[in-house]
Amino acid sequence: MKFFIDTADVAEIKDLASTGLLDGVTTNPSLIAQSGRDFIEVITEICGIIDGPVSAEVAATDFDTMLKEGRHLAKIASNVVIKVPLTPDGLKTCKTLSDEGTMVNVTLCFSAAQAILAAKAGASFISPFIGRLDDLGQDGLMLISDIVEIYSQYPEFQTEVLVASIRNPNHIVEAAKMGADVSTIPPKVIRQLYNHPLTDQGLEAFVKDWAKTGQTILAA
Ligand code: E4P
Repeated sequence: MKFFIDTADVAEIKDLASTGLLDGVTTNPSLIAQSGRDFIEVITEICGIIDGPVSAEVAATDFDTMLKEGRHLAKIASNVVIKVPLTPDGLKTCKTLSDEGTMVNVTLCFSAAQAILAAKAGASFISPFIGRLDDLGQDGLMLISDIVEIYSQYPEFQTEVLVASIRNPNHIVEAAKMGADVSTIPPKVIRQLYNHPLTDQGLEAFVKDWAKTGQTILAA
């Protein structure tokens, strides 16, 4: 499973990129607003840090303007992925940009039917928002299972399932069991993935016991 980081905070991206475990980045207009920075400047900076796909979302909602914005953003770097909403105009934009060879991430997906449309429109990524479905008392992970199953029936669908709106490590584990291609993860949840109390306790005991031996591995 590939790991993308879901943030527009460049300091967080730099910090977590140093783990060597990041494969890409996703941003959205809310995350850009949170960063308080210029959109084009942030995406350019992120593309200088991460070689993998970096999603940059269009702001318009009509086809003509989305297409212009998408083509403009795609010029920033070859790893920019244009993010479009799952609407009729968004999918038209997806089809046009994909036919031109630009990677597209179709966002705000909340049903398997929508995911089929995105694959037919040539999306490189489909972003089902599982946390927001859970928030409504629905089962976000069930949607991932449905999409993975459907896409696996059609080898001509090249769209990767990018699990979005992740709230906790269990979302990632369960999506991985289902064979989802990518998780886009908030920085806080990436850090939670490392944690287990038995790791901390075990390490503490090993450090104490090692001290009792009086040895050093790196002798002078
Ligand atoms: C995905 O690309 C989105 O940026 C993101 O996962 C949305 O998550 P949220 O529901 O926590 O805002």
